[in-house]
Amino acid sequence: MANILCIGAGFVGGPTMAVIAKHCPEHRIVAVDINAAKIAAWQSDHLPIYEPGLKEIVLAVRGKNLFFSTEIERHVAEADIIFVSVNTPTKTFGQGAGKAADLQYWEKTARQIVESSSSSKIVVEKSTLPVRTAEAMERILNSNEKGLFFDVVSNPEFLAEGTAVEDMQNPNRVLVGGQQTPSGQRAVQAIVDIYAHWVPRERIITTNLWSSELSKLAANAFLAQRVSSINAIANLCEKTGADVTEVAHAIGTDSRIGARFLQASVGFGGSCFKKDILNLVYLCEFYGLDEVAAYWEQVVRMNAYQQASFVSKMVAAMFNTVAGKRIALFGAAFKAHTSDTRESPALAVCRELLEEHAHVVITDPYALESARADLHDVAGRVTFEPDPYAAARDAHAIAIATEWPQFAKLDYAAIYETMVHPAFIFDGRNILDHNKLFEIGYNVYAVGKPPLTHFENSNPVL
Ligand code: UDX
Ligand code: UDX
Repeated sequence: MANILCIGAGFVGGPTMAVIAKHCPEHRIVAVDINAAKIAAWQSDHLPIYEPGLKEIVLAVRGKNLFFSTEIERHVAEADIIFVSVNTPTKTFGQGAGKAADLQYWEKTARQIVESSSSSKIVVEKSTLPVRTAEAMERILNSNEKGLFFDVVSNPEFLAEGTAVEDMQNPNRVLVGGQQTPSGQRAVQAIVDIYAHWVPRERIITTNLWSSELSKLAANAFLAQRVSSINAIANLCEKTGADVTEVAHAIGTDSRIGARFLQASVGFGGSCFKKDILNLVYLCEFYGLDEVAAYWEQVVRMNAYQQASFVSKMVAAMFNTVAGKRIALFGAAFKAHTSDTRESPALAVCRELLEEHAHVVITDPYALESARADLHDVAGRVTFEPDPYAAARDAHAIAIATEWPQFAKLDYAAIYETMVHPAFIFDGRNILDHNKLFEIGYNVYAVGKPPLTHFENSNPVL
């Protein structure tokens, strides 16, 4: 039996601990957080985050071998293994502002661990961190005067939101990195043993610490790079009459390329992609690798362009003005099946539309609460409407910003009757049946496809 603690009960810590608790009934798992409201929510029926399958697991193990608490010191003292999944936002000040990771929470947590400990422990980096952070952490942890020794292990998460529980239960791989010392290897083995309860051993990869830390940044950079690459091609499709869905299919069937992550869109969002790439960029610059830094930075620049140009295309199509026009924004979450709006392209689109003085009405099945918090500075200018039909009523246009399957199943013929004509649909996720919408009467603009409009002599390309 081991006492496992997780510091930071957020999108990563919560689902990770729930799944470990489910598969390791002999271990006692506690998740702590400085945010008391969040802990109260984890203890209630209204969990602080929405993830398919999460509630069932939490309800099954909570109070048995999974506990949520705000008493950080007490639980640190009791723990054998401490996962740290506090947030590591991008620095907003000083050196590396806008790119480097802000490690103050991590360092604070490390110091708190030392202070509250009276036995040696394994500390697991779950948060995404710059390469060689573990080294700094080891120094802080092991410069204690209590004679305690802490092993630092890197175990990056590869959970995608919306499928976090499934990704955790059935991962492609689990990565555990540690120091090549006997004690470091014992610590790695202790973490491997946890996952081996349900993950086949061949899917558990062990590496040195730095490879593990860098692999996390590299994985996210590669994934984001694919989205920016297909979006770059989508722009070219719009100019040439090619269809990006056809191109994606044609290239994705090459097994060397692969079919996934080739969905052209209004851009990528989420808490990780931009932050992790900028982190990588900062790291490259730090080591004087300016060309390498510029290569990765372009992935983020392409994404910013994709979000901004989506709105420019809307304005151009709607007779060069959206001022005073009601626009129904379908989606607030950064992707489907999550309530998370961090770095959501939907909110970037919303803000750009507000700059153009549009009246934006946002609808989303799960993320309205979070969107309202994020948009508090422009609160009076945005309407939050849970019902998509009501959102679209009297609107000049619908813009799809999140690929919720619900949005593809709406009665667009009925919606059309309630909208201002000519009615526009901008499908930023290519989830709708564009020909059918065109037949209903809409002017349809999708990403990376020729527009379908009822205007004579309209520009065939956006
Ligand atoms: C975060 C990072 O964004 C990600 O890069 C990393 O891999 C894991 O941690 P996430 O779980 O999505 O991901 O963040 P969030 O939902 O904000 O959870 C972090 C939690 O840590 C918050 O609930 C916050 O209250 C808590 N926290 C933060 C602490 O408990 N102590 C602190 O000192 C700081
Ligand atoms: C990502 C990684 O996938 C995960 O392994 C890591 O641990 C955390 O970061 P997440 O941010 O939850 O996960 O979502 P992901 O599914 O990767 O999507 C990121 C963004 O890219 C979303 O906004 C999504 O809509 C967009 N996307 C994804 C596209 O626009 N097109 C695609 O083909 C795929």
